[in-house]
Amino acid sequence: MKDKKILLCVTGGIAAYKACSLVGYFVKNGADVKVIMSKAATEFVGPLTFQALTNHAVYIDMFEIINKEEVEHISLATWCDVAVIAPATANTIGKIAGGIADNLLTTVIAALPQKKKVVIAPAMNKEMWNNPITQDNIKKLKKYSRYIFVEPRKGMLACRVEGAGKIADTETIVETVKKALK
Ligand SMILES: Cc1cc2nc3c(=O)[nH]c(=O)nc-3n(C[C@H](O)[C@H](O)[C@H](O)COP(=O)(O)O)c2cc1C
Repeated sequence: MKDKKILLCVTGGIAAYKACSLVGYFVKNGADVKVIMSKAATEFVGPLTFQALTNHAVYIDMFEIINKEEVEHISLATWCDVAVIAPATANTIGKIAGGIADNLLTTVIAALPQKKKVVIAPAMNKEMWNNPITQDNIKKLKKYSRYIFVEPRKGMLACRVEGAGKIADTETIVETVKKALK
């Protein structure tokens, strides 16, 4: 992934802190990383952490002008070689599957040129994961080859319940992104 441009989209779950080590892996592999956070994600990790790790401004608000010469939802979609949503909440997966673009993150994903891949690493409570609506949304997205899911693991979840929904290992996500970039 040397010199590749990775757009990391962080959504609002406990596993948001794991996105920090993901950035570390990407950067170590020579990638340039920009981060979009959902508003909910900022409740879990401060944007300043991602700014320091990536050396780029962090994008959160669709209507805030960071770079006056660019329209963010288009420029970020054009800029990246691949988008990675990690962790991906049930909410954001549902929005993307439903074609909803009501924040910067989902709007950039909607505006992404068709040839670009989107790697999605879901993380959620086991009931949210097993919810047939979540599973239907994932099934729908899998019909389009550009959406590549990194299956969550079984284990002790943040809510102290054993089950599926734990975000995949950082190494597995990195390997999937490498393949998506080929
Ligand atoms: C403490 C806490 C932990 C949460 N963890 C998760 C999670 O792991 N996965 C998930 O899908 N939603 C989780 N949620 C719910 C999301 O934050 C909520 O659905 C939010 O609207 C997601 O917004 P976003 O998709 O724009 O980030 C959690 C909420 C709280 C308060």
